[in-house]
Amino acid sequence: MKDIPLFTTEYGAANLILGSVPGFGTAYARILSARDGNALARECAQFCRAAGAEAVYATGLPESESWPLSTEIWRMTAQKASLPQSQAELIPVTAETLEEWAALYNRKFRAVPNAVWLSSSLGQAVLKAREAFFVRLSGRTVGIAKGAENQIHVVAALAPGGGRAAVLALARELEGPEIALEVASVNGKALALYQSLGFQQTETLSKWYKIG
Ligand SMILES: CC(C)(COP(=O)(O)OP(=O)(O)OC[C@H]1O[C@@H](n2cnc3c(N)ncnc32)[C@H](O)[C@@H]1OP(=O)(O)O)[C@@H](O)C(=O)NCCC(=O)NCCS
Repeated sequence: MKDIPLFTTEYGAANLILGSVPGFGTAYARILSARDGNALARECAQFCRAAGAEAVYATGLPESESWPLSTEIWRMTAQKASLPQSQAELIPVTAETLEEWAALYNRKFRAVPNAVWLSSSLGQAVLKAREAFFVRLSGRTVGIAKGAENQIHVVAALAPGGGRAAVLALARELEGPEIALEVASVNGKALALYQSLGFQQTETLSKWYKIG
């Protein structure tokens, strides 16, 4: 499903992100300008629901608006040299294993706030960029990971200890000196994992409200 870069009404303008509607049932609105934030948010929600969204989230609303806060998105960083060593290995995703990786990703990220659903076309882009990996430890697949430059994009655990293995194996291959990631402030398990490895919150990137 295509995004709507500029959705305009008499109340203002927003960027509607609809790519996760088919898989996760979620749509996102980035408010660009608002004469009446509440009315614009309601119209965004109405449009997204007509496109099939079950839940709609917005960012960029004036602070005074009264929608419930869904999550903040935080940037966290750690110094690569300070991360513990791990024996875990990264196995690159290939054309043959892409479908399996994407299915695992979509299963693990369905309930993660603000996660993007991996459609088959996004999956092909991930494959082309060579950024996605299975994480192996002691002969078992324990997680999945994706990242580029100094950024961790995706980590998920498929076995106990898999989250830690995924972060450490991926960070080892990424560029230093600083490793960065984004996390939803309400994702308690992810926060606990990152904090246990020494990642610290450096910035609040956005605040998302549930609308409609
Ligand atoms: C965030 C996350 C990696 C933290 O992991 P952790 O608490 O350190 O967990 P561990 O590495 O000890 O592993 C436990 C996980 O392995 C999973 N697991 C255990 N045995 C498993 C098995 N046989 N098959 C599949 N999964 C299994 C558990 O379900 C648990 O995952 P869950 O937290 O999603 O329920 C993990 O919670 C996760 O994968 N969450 C979903 C994706 C996510 O939020 N990623 C971070 C985005 S910023």
